[in-house]
Amino acid sequence: MGELVVGIDVGTTKICTLVGEVRAEDIYVVGVGVEPARGMKKGVVNDVSALTAAISSSVHKAERSSGYEIGRAFVSVAGAHIDSKNSKGVVGINSPRGVQISDLERAMDAARAIALPHNREVLHVIPRCYTLDGQEGVRSPLGMHGFRLEVEAHIVMAASSSLQNLEKCVEGAGVYVDRFILNPLASGDVVLTDAEREMGVMVVDIGGGTTDLAIFIDGTVWHTAVISVGGWHLTNDIAQGLHLPYEIAEAVKVEYGHADPKDIDPTEMFIVQPFGEEQMSQVKRVDLAQIIFDRTEELFQLVLKEAKYSAYDGLLSAGIVLTGGSAQLPGIKQVASEVLKMPVRVAQPERLSGMADQLRNPAYSTSVGLLRLGLIMDQEDERRGRNGGSYRPGNGLPGIGSRGPRGKGPNIGKLFGTVMKRLLPEDDE
Ligand SMILES: Nc1ncnc2c1ncn2[C@@H]1O[C@H](COP(=O)(O)OP(=O)(O)OP(=O)(O)O)[C@@H](O)[C@H]1O
Ligand SMILES: [Mg+2]
Repeated sequence: MGELVVGIDVGTTKICTLVGEVRAEDIYVVGVGVEPARGMKKGVVNDVSALTAAISSSVHKAERSSGYEIGRAFVSVAGAHIDSKNSKGVVGINSPRGVQISDLERAMDAARAIALPHNREVLHVIPRCYTLDGQEGVRSPLGMHGFRLEVEAHIVMAASSSLQNLEKCVEGAGVYVDRFILNPLASGDVVLTDAEREMGVMVVDIGGGTTDLAIFIDGTVWHTAVISVGGWHLTNDIAQGLHLPYEIAEAVKVEYGHADPKDIDPTEMFIVQPFGEEQMSQVKRVDLAQIIFDRTEELFQLVLKEAKYSAYDGLLSAGIVLTGGSAQLPGIKQVASEVLKMPVRVAQPERLSGMADQLRNPAYSTSVGLLRLGLIMDQEDERRGRNGGSYRPGNGLPGIGSRGPRGKGPNIGKLFGTVMKRLLPEDDE
């Protein structure tokens, strides 16, 4: 049996718990538990007991499917309370052996020492690149000689109370939060290629309650943001525009929805039963597409605004990668490329083994990414703790620091974030 990792993707639409076994370079999915979300709105908790029950149910399903008892997990986080900025840290080097891991740590600590407003905390500190004695763009300064080391780091911040509420729900379900991981970092890990990360790309994960963004340039993370608009808003617009109950509007969106009215035959109709009507009525599919287009176009305007705000919009040579459940909407790619004027592709988790069929869907990019990125973060922490190995921004993943445990629970990070014992005897597999 390999090492074990567990991720809980706490979305606005679904809670997805995955159990993975680390085999060679691969993570083999051995357990899946998906439960419709309750108690979440726009990526934040709005009903502790409902969300705790939903997480508990998702975790139990994953336990039954994997045969393991889940004790701790990496947990996704999003919501409008997320904020990010770039920061510099400078330290002097005085070792005759050149830059040591402890120097990198000191530089990162200096970058991390930003004035935090009340009720905010640092979620991730990600090294972007280093400058050594004025030489810019150093990727891995370990062992290099110099006197003045400067790190540029990307810092992701979150509201402490939002994290505490989420932590309370996960712990209420009997699972210790090993670390929180920002949604678009997890999605980006799964859907982006190394070449895209090098050239400059933005991953846009359009979920139910939020749209999560991350910009990768030169192989590492340069900007992250969360927009509080997602598929829920599309369904809500359809419900209002066509006078339908929310559930019917959701079914209509999935069955007949299209984001680009230009692609729809103006004579095509479908039948629904609006509120207060006894008779079914006919609706033009192009009218449905217009409602979806209006909101989708507005969403991509917000994405563009965020890209411009980051000031990196001109550096996205590899364009946009759309993922998340709402990326399944036909026509969404055209709308995105028209608004953003960049190449766009839609992506889902691909490099998967084990119980993977259900997960090959854009809705599961964050869920799968939690396992992989959580593992990488733990391995990196362990390497740094051991004072060995290479510490580098690399492809943007190794070297990602994270908010550690809140001082509760056993310190067992060596087990890759998961403490589990077998429920079933070996031969029951
Ligand atoms: N075929 C489809 N066409 C259009 N939208 C779809 C389709 N399938 C799912 N969706 C939408 O995807 C959304 C859910 O996506 P996802 O599972 O990524 O959300 P989530 O992770 O739970 O939410 P969030 O990340 O925003 O908290 C829902 O709004 C749903 O209506
Ligand atoms: Mg999501």
